[in-house]
Amino acid sequence: MAKTANNRKVAIVGCGFVGSATAFALMQSELFTEMVLIDVDRDRAEGEALDIAHGMPFAGPMNIYAGDYDDAADAAIIIVTAGANQQPGETRLDLVHKNVRIFKSIIPEIAQRDYQGILLVVSNPVDILTHVALKLSGMPENRVIGSGTVLDTARFKYILGEHLGVDPRNVHARIIGEHGDSEIAAWSTANVSGIPVNDFCELRGHFDHDESMQRIAEDVKNSAYEIIAKKKATYYGIAMSVKRICEAIVRDEKPILPVSNFQRGVHGLHDVVLSMPAVVGKDGIEYQVPTPLSDDELARLHASAETMREVMSGLDLE
Ligand SMILES: NC(=O)c1ccc[n+]([C@@H]2O[C@H](COP(=O)([O-])OP(=O)(O)OC[C@H]3O[C@@H](n4cnc5c(N)ncnc54)[C@H](O)[C@@H]3O)[C@@H](O)[C@H]2O)c1
Repeated sequence: MAKTANNRKVAIVGCGFVGSATAFALMQSELFTEMVLIDVDRDRAEGEALDIAHGMPFAGPMNIYAGDYDDAADAAIIIVTAGANQQPGETRLDLVHKNVRIFKSIIPEIAQRDYQGILLVVSNPVDILTHVALKLSGMPENRVIGSGTVLDTARFKYILGEHLGVDPRNVHARIIGEHGDSEIAAWSTANVSGIPVNDFCELRGHFDHDESMQRIAEDVKNSAYEIIAKKKATYYGIAMSVKRICEAIVRDEKPILPVSNFQRGVHGLHDVVLSMPAVVGKDGIEYQVPTPLSDDELARLHASAETMREVMSGLDLE
């Protein structure tokens, strides 16, 4: 029988760099009172649970332990970070076959327990794997989401904030499309406190718009490659992004976040999972937000969608 989701409980499947950094961020957030860590490498899950639990006297009380899928069945959110990560030079799409195989061993375990919470996919390629999780689980579309371009958007705001000498929280700008090489910087709506980004650039003494826009968008897109070349994996930025998505769900905050979600017609997108702005609350995706796009952005968005469809059509999900 389905267990009702417990709003104070989270589970993390995959306790490598990303899973453990996420567990650490969530422990400090005090959003949850119970956290289950699951990994095929049980020692790894147990070690992470112990290590993170030892910080508890400096945060709030929490029951954190290594467990299995029965323990996760009533979690409000199950976060999936299991799977291979990018090696230097590899794209996210290169991981797809390895990680689909891993998802085939994870998602049915969750679905067969008639899971009632939110499934939050983080493993890459995240838009594809969110679609795969949706198909393998048979869960409703609103409750299967991916971390999408929440991280890329944070990188975009950070880099723009540095460029403009302004708090990145006052930068309103978004990366949409694929969390990957076909992602799109939505410059046409980018603004700083309501001032169009190019006007704000001029106020700060920057006039080389085309060159700066191209460089900043490339820097955002290549952030992961640069970090992986230098330290083998990226995990702190994604951990903070996942914490933000968990806050939105658990507190029913309803922010607009560019999470991976199944498209239902906004901008003419159908039958594809892409990272697009949506209101996120206790039921997952509540509303897909039709933010305006320029013709060029729209064309690139459809190209990104086509890339996703091609990858999906090459997968064996039986
Ligand atoms: N979405 C994003 O923005 C983003 C950012 C960074 C990394 N990632 C992705 O997150 C994933 C994890 O990256 P990482 O650096 O933590 O890798 P990692 O190799 O450090 O950890 C992966 C973990 O998954 C576990 N695992 C493998 N198969 C499993 C299974 N069937 N069941 C349970 N656990 C299993 C492994 O034992 C390991 O502990 C990768 O796919 C990576 O590309 C996504």
